[in-house]
Amino acid sequence: MVEIILIASGKGGSGKSTFVNGISNALADLGKKVLAADCDIGLRSLDLMFGVTENVVFDWGDLLLERCSREQAVIKGKVDFLAAPRSFDDGFTPESVSELFRSLADDYDYIILDAPAGIDRGMRLAASAADRAIVVSTADSICVRSCARAFDELRRLNIEDTRLVINMFEVKPACKHKLLNIDQCIDETGVQLIGVIPRDINIGFSSVTGKAPDADAPSSLAFNRIAMRITGKRVPLICE
Ligand SMILES: Nc1ncnc2c1ncn2[C@@H]1O[C@H](COP(=O)(O)OP(=O)(O)OP(=O)(O)O)[C@@H](O)[C@H]1O
Ligand SMILES: [Mg+2]
Repeated sequence: MVEIILIASGKGGSGKSTFVNGISNALADLGKKVLAADCDIGLRSLDLMFGVTENVVFDWGDLLLERCSREQAVIKGKVDFLAAPRSFDDGFTPESVSELFRSLADDYDYIILDAPAGIDRGMRLAASAADRAIVVSTADSICVRSCARAFDELRRLNIEDTRLVINMFEVKPACKHKLLNIDQCIDETGVQLIGVIPRDINIGFSSVTGKAPDADAPSSLAFNRIAMRITGKRVPLICE
């Protein structure tokens, strides 16, 4: 049965879209059928990370409003892709958005939704379709606090199963006084940890070229571990 997973955060720029790209590809490497959908209405970027910008003609808003067929909206690939609408429409309601993604469920093991930052309308719309959520935070105390707020909002929206990813983690950060350690991130957010992704220069390159980092890049290894945990496999949280 499909699982629809919302990727959310409090503050912007914590790495949600990067995470959607990395985790979708890692799940596909495990043989799962995956659809990644950009839900950052108006500020979409995931098509760039997936390297499919040239192929985007329609988006999930067009599909919802019956302006195109599923075949026209879904861009096929190792991970299938749905672009975000360029603007909100009165037809986008929690019910219609949820119904849309449920209608795609038969074709996939996982549908990964890239939410906009924060807890506003766009995030709540995307959350309406989700079974579970992952909040992505850096170890910065401001980002962590806003993640705790996003977690509260997800609970209010009846998403009971939320996990934390700490992104851009550095064992020896340059500005240590500003950053929390892993235990502090967990305590401050109150969310169970599902994985830690290191700061990795390979990600910077991949987000502009649309090509995934090499399989042995530190971030790729972290995405693989989190993908295994998502599928229920027992692997240690952090690479030794
Ligand atoms: N682990 C990492 N190591 C190095 N750079 C990273 C890492 N994760 C993300 N980045 C970089 O951080 C920037 C922000 O990432 P991204 O766009 O994924 O964040 P976001 O949470 O989706 O932002 P927004 O809230 O604006 O949608 C990008 O330039 C990306 O390449
Ligand atoms: Mg994003």
